[in-house]
Amino acid sequence: MRYMKPEEIDWNNLKFGYTRTPVNVRCYCRDGQWGEIEEHAEETVTMHMAATALHYGQTAFEGLKAFRCPDGKVRVFRMDENARRMQSSAEYLRMGVPSVELFCEMVTRVVTLNKEYIPPYESGGSLYIRPVIVGSGPQLGVKPAGETLLLMFVSPVGPYYSGGMKGISAIIDRTHDRAAPFGTGHTKAGGNYGASLTSALEGHEKGYDSVLYLDPAQHRYIDECGAANFFGIRVDAAEEGGRAHYITPASHSILPSITNKSLRQIAADFGMEVEARQVELDELNTFSEAGCCGTAAVITPVSTIFDPADGKTYRFGEGVGLWSKKLYDELVAIQHGEVEDRHGWNTVLDL
Ligand code: PLP
Ligand code: COI
Repeated sequence: MRYMKPEEIDWNNLKFGYTRTPVNVRCYCRDGQWGEIEEHAEETVTMHMAATALHYGQTAFEGLKAFRCPDGKVRVFRMDENARRMQSSAEYLRMGVPSVELFCEMVTRVVTLNKEYIPPYESGGSLYIRPVIVGSGPQLGVKPAGETLLLMFVSPVGPYYSGGMKGISAIIDRTHDRAAPFGTGHTKAGGNYGASLTSALEGHEKGYDSVLYLDPAQHRYIDECGAANFFGIRVDAAEEGGRAHYITPASHSILPSITNKSLRQIAADFGMEVEARQVELDELNTFSEAGCCGTAAVITPVSTIFDPADGKTYRFGEGVGLWSKKLYDELVAIQHGEVEDRHGWNTVLDL
């Protein structure tokens, strides 16, 4: 694949997809020792045919973003959190565990080396950073690889859901789970995403933008919405004080989203009641707004959720609700340095 020169990119019509950029960075861990960070131009990786990543799914990844900001600087959002989550995935999958420092140095390096590919502020796009960690050494038995490869590439991206703030439709899936009750759902293991492909494609074929997963043990509580966390907003009646609640599922089988963690903090800053707990499906009836959140999804409103079990459609209105919009605006303003970074989430780069 040839490079698009930065001047050839249609910044205002970016989608969430892969665009080749000049440099990716790689680092190998052999016998427990991480080596030097390497810079590569090629898009391919040469790996042993018996690598555990290929046979046994010893792979995990991350996703984070860098933003070109109105003050001319570049901000990377919460990379230390992504570093720690990659550590927990790598530990669980028995790979070499990169230090937070190594992870952050590689992120900084790959963003810096591809800085011409960071979309301009006005475009609304961002530079998506994709760290991937794999067991790259050979094994025949089901055992961890003796070699781990951590690599990072970047791609300029636009919105994950093309409908954007219009709101998406979701269908509840009871025939496929993305993760097992005591499985890998809490990690960003590649296998979770392989396991979600049939469900996502079947959902699309039925005309839905996304799939709402329930807890895999009982199918009673809400887990996640596609590759994003789920939240609902409930507002108490005026005579009870009119307080707004940010309610999001807590479960072993959902990925602990860094966007969701940030939104919980912003909601608390706004004086909202924050509830992270099991959420029964029935509770959807009490939400005035629903949304999914993640690095790629940012906040995407959920307009409808269809439950094939009883034919019921839960409706949350077209477009973005009042509280979801407030949360979205504040998150995006922090990421772009337009309001104070009061929780110290950004790494500011002078690029
Ligand atoms: N849930 C799943 C399954 C995901 O793949 C993602 C994306 O990373 C998220 C939630 C959102 O997590 P984050 O906000 O850290 O990107
Ligand atoms: C992200 O939001 O970064 C994700 O990982 C979602 C993705 C699988 C496209």
